[in-house]
Amino acid sequence: MIDIHSHILPYIDDGSNSIEHSLRQLKQAEEGGVSTIYLTSHYFPGHYQYTRPEYDEKLDALRGQAKAAGLKIKLSSGFEVFIQPGILKDIKEHSLTLGDSPYVLIESELNGLPSDFYANVYPLLRAGYKPILAHAERYVSIMRKPERARELADRNIHIQSNAGAILGHYGEKVRQTAWILLENGWTHFLASDDHVRGEYGALFEASKLIEERIDGRTAELLTLGFPAKIETGEDIPYSYVRVKSSRHKPKKKSLLRRIFG
Ligand SMILES: [Fe+2]
Repeated sequence: MIDIHSHILPYIDDGSNSIEHSLRQLKQAEEGGVSTIYLTSHYFPGHYQYTRPEYDEKLDALRGQAKAAGLKIKLSSGFEVFIQPGILKDIKEHSLTLGDSPYVLIESELNGLPSDFYANVYPLLRAGYKPILAHAERYVSIMRKPERARELADRNIHIQSNAGAILGHYGEKVRQTAWILLENGWTHFLASDDHVRGEYGALFEASKLIEERIDGRTAELLTLGFPAKIETGEDIPYSYVRVKSSRHKPKKKSLLRRIFG
């Protein structure tokens, strides 16, 4: 599995506040089958103050400590970028993408989305970035009208859901919304958004549940197939649900064959 959203990098945002806890979390992730994890610290000027070199320094330190602890999990750089007017400049200047890819994990007001959301994302698209909306099921406007997630995908924004949302950790309404997005094929990524508050396991539990309730192919696409394309910079389809071609419908028997068998 590849986890594209986590706050396991310590001392930088509202995620981990201890190296020991971060290492414990990474160990649990690795043992459960995560091979790569993106350490997507919040990028929200005015709320979390750090420079890109400070982020890189913290990431390098954690990589060293993880290696010393015998961990093999790959720690990739990333940010969860709060969308606001003019954010493209910051994304360009500080390379606020997932690894070296064109994909950018974005977030907005949870009680929104604000009316200027798309207007602020559109410049990213025009500049060649590929935005992924983090935890889409947590936005009030998407809870009210889940089809909005499809509308976003129609406008070239990928959708990420939180494992905890699938399991009901954010309440019933968020859980229901997350399942509606999944069942309609509007979710492209399942990720932990782990803030190091408890155990890491939600991603594994949620993936298993998707396998049981939807199918193994969907669980695999959301936790490995699509995230792997971020690493290689490949395109990820906005619509991926297979629709059976009408050419494969069984042919109707002719009148004579129906009569005589
Ligand atoms: Fe997050």
